[in-house]
Amino acid sequence: MDKTGQTQVIGIASGKGGVGKTTVSVNLAVALQALGKRVMLFDADMGLANAQIAMGCRCPYNLSDFLSGDKTLKEIIVTTRQGVRLVPGSSGRQEMAALDDMGAARIVQAFSSLEESVDYLIVDMAAGISPSVLSFMAACNRRFVVVRDDPSSIADAYGTIKVMIQDYGLDEIYLIPNGVGSAQEGFQLFERINKVCARFLNRSIRYLDSIENDEMILMAHKKYQPVLEFAPTSAASRDFRRLAKVTAQLPPDLEASGGLQFFVERWVKTIS
Ligand SMILES: Nc1ncnc2c1ncn2[C@@H]1O[C@H](COP(=O)(O)OP(=O)(O)O)[C@@H](O)[C@H]1O
Ligand SMILES: [Mg+2]
Repeated sequence: MDKTGQTQVIGIASGKGGVGKTTVSVNLAVALQALGKRVMLFDADMGLANAQIAMGCRCPYNLSDFLSGDKTLKEIIVTTRQGVRLVPGSSGRQEMAALDDMGAARIVQAFSSLEESVDYLIVDMAAGISPSVLSFMAACNRRFVVVRDDPSSIADAYGTIKVMIQDYGLDEIYLIPNGVGSAQEGFQLFERINKVCARFLNRSIRYLDSIENDEMILMAHKKYQPVLEFAPTSAASRDFRRLAKVTAQLPPDLEASGGLQFFVERWVKTIS
């Protein structure tokens, strides 16, 4: 536990799918864990739950067992070989793709009954800007938006940021350019997007860190391993370690309350 004894909840979003949310969530979780933090990763991408695949983790149960009422949240959580506490999502279940508000609220409330404390709860969001995704994002302390340097990813990232700011009044929005040629290119992408935010939303967002394009990520995925495990000396692994350091250096959000209870309190605040 860090000195403040608070859990920091980080939501990872993108707007568009396939830009690297799960890759960033999984490797950030693994890298923070390696820094000695206690990390829980919540795979909230109901339609395409693949954090467990990316971590090479066998999960006897998953979120659908929780939503059906067969298992408690505690019963579905596993510890991955990297030491991360994983709340596994369910994959390929049609009814899971669109999580309704009731299901989302039940999930969030169940976190309050968890007695374990963690330093970070990382939430790997579903693509898109459905009300449940946005409510999850609102319940987090910080929001990390993953974006690639291509027109549709940029448009969707901006659209997500716009809704978070204008409709939900959220701040603490950080950009993570992914799949870039260099950190400098990543920062330039941030500057382009931030300019649009400043001009049209009258608000600025923050730069966090960039992840280079690295085929080792794809090779690692084929081996059911996070790249940090598969190729620790790769450029991507270097970037994810740096991302974890930068994340750990962010000042704790003072609004956070102890343990995982905050998730509930913040959630209730946004839906009421
Ligand atoms: N920096 C990167 N370099 C190379 N490939 C990447 C990078 N980030 C993600 N990928 C690959 O892109 C694909 C989509 O990534 P994923 O994390 O599943 O996206 P999302 O969760 O946003 O849908 C995966 O095949 C992943 O291995
Ligand atoms: Mg994903």
